[in-house]
Amino acid sequence: MNVKEATEKRRAYRSLDPVEIDDDLINDLAHVAQIAPSCSNSQPWRFVFVYNKEQLEKLFSTLTPGNKWVEKSSMMIAVFSTPKDDCVIKERMYYLFDTGMAVAFIILRATELGLVAHPIAGFDEEKAKEILNIPKELRLITFINIGKHSSEVNPVLSENMKLGEKQRPPRKPLSKLIYINEYGNKFIENRIE
Ligand SMILES: Cc1cc2nc3c(=O)[nH]c(=O)nc-3n(C[C@H](O)[C@H](O)[C@H](O)COP(=O)(O)O)c2cc1C
Repeated sequence: MNVKEATEKRRAYRSLDPVEIDDDLINDLAHVAQIAPSCSNSQPWRFVFVYNKEQLEKLFSTLTPGNKWVEKSSMMIAVFSTPKDDCVIKERMYYLFDTGMAVAFIILRATELGLVAHPIAGFDEEKAKEILNIPKELRLITFINIGKHSSEVNPVLSENMKLGEKQRPPRKPLSKLIYINEYGNKFIENRIE
């Protein structure tokens, strides 16, 4: 699978089947994050790879009600960082940007391996940090939930989420996102296949 194929294939699926988690998989995903770019090579990202059943159960209790589907994950990768570990240039903080790029690398590699890697924001940060022993001063940004896409739609999903299993949620047209040469000079959509 090339990068373009991985970007097309990647989806935030919510119907998950279990996958086997071993050191090779963790090493593989950790490595692609390790070589991601960052401002001044700051490498602000930190991860806890959680696949111990008891620990997963505890993390499930931190999820928002709409994220019950996460309970089928075989691994939750906690992603955390702090502005102190990355560039701040005239109030532009790069820690979330750089950590996001490392997360994107993990998601694309997981996709290439035939896995679902679905990031979430819906969890209780304080509670989850306590469970994982993450120091107070660090921000827990997301969990990347790992599984395999199930052919059976998870019954806990809302109707909208069920629809999302079948088709990618709509995107804004490029004419609303992209300008050429200066702001306001709209791009005329011409999709490259
Ligand atoms: C930062 C971030 C937070 C998200 N949080 C949640 C979440 O809490 N629950 C959920 O079901 N999906 C969550 N998603 C998934 C998005 O809803 C999904 O990416 C979006 O609807 C587009 O669908 P697609 O990724 O399949 O193309 C999150 C995605 C990102 C990048």
